[in-house]
Amino acid sequence: MQVIKTVREMQSTSKALRDKGCKIAFVPTMGYLHAGHLSLIDKAKAHGDVVVVSIFVNPTQFGPSEDLEKYPRDMEKDLKACEVEGVDIVFAPPVEEMYPQGYSTYVNEESLGAPLCGKSRPAFFRGVCTVVTKLFNIVHPHVAVFGQKDAQQAAVVKHMVQDLNFEIEILIGATVREADGLAMSSRNSYLKPFQRQDAVRIYQALRKGAAIYEMGIDSTDRILAEITHHISEVRRLRVIYVQAVDMETMKPLRYVEKGRTLIATAVWCDEIRLIDNIIL
Ligand code: PAF
Repeated sequence: MQVIKTVREMQSTSKALRDKGCKIAFVPTMGYLHAGHLSLIDKAKAHGDVVVVSIFVNPTQFGPSEDLEKYPRDMEKDLKACEVEGVDIVFAPPVEEMYPQGYSTYVNEESLGAPLCGKSRPAFFRGVCTVVTKLFNIVHPHVAVFGQKDAQQAAVVKHMVQDLNFEIEILIGATVREADGLAMSSRNSYLKPFQRQDAVRIYQALRKGAAIYEMGIDSTDRILAEITHHISEVRRLRVIYVQAVDMETMKPLRYVEKGRTLIATAVWCDEIRLIDNIIL
């Protein structure tokens, strides 16, 4: 496995691979890899000849009061996990390589990124679109894999790829869950055991919403009220949003449209922000 730290070397390596006819499959990450990331890597392997994983904690997608400094990092463990998983190249640039002194260009998707997480994290999607654009221009992949757990991010990136005419196929990997249902996330490492116990209620509440729908109720107001109620019963949890939107456009839906209704939530578990979603 090759570890590349500079933009120039990554670009020339990708160019050489493309010239040889290799199909490059890319998984962008912020590291602290868990089974969810590994499943995205497996998907990339199935869709490309060479798998590139980036590990970069992107400062531009964190707000001033967010967890950039304390975001979990373990490069040594991540590199081992990538090696075991059969990754070909890890691109792990230092911050100055991605954002050198004087950096001043940003990419902003202005519609799909506005609701949900865009409301409570105003800088987030601008930072994501900027870094993903840069990574696409550096890694130059044929295919890139994103996780369904970050459903709005996946929709924003897909839309950006279309708007900006990137010749990259975007694939979405299913959310991987712990045995009790909690969606895997690097931020779960912040949870103390008692918080971890309460956090499981988020997915349970989403399942309660799904159960109501399966009983024949398709009013999203009713479904969302049920979910909110179940989350709010736990003292430690505070709902930031629970919404029902079209999974591609992120526009609110009053009634479930089967197969394309994203029920997405963000929740504070004490000071830890967790997100999850299901599709009805
Ligand atoms: O989902 C993530 O880990 C990040 O938002 C991404 C896509 C790697 C961009 O920094």
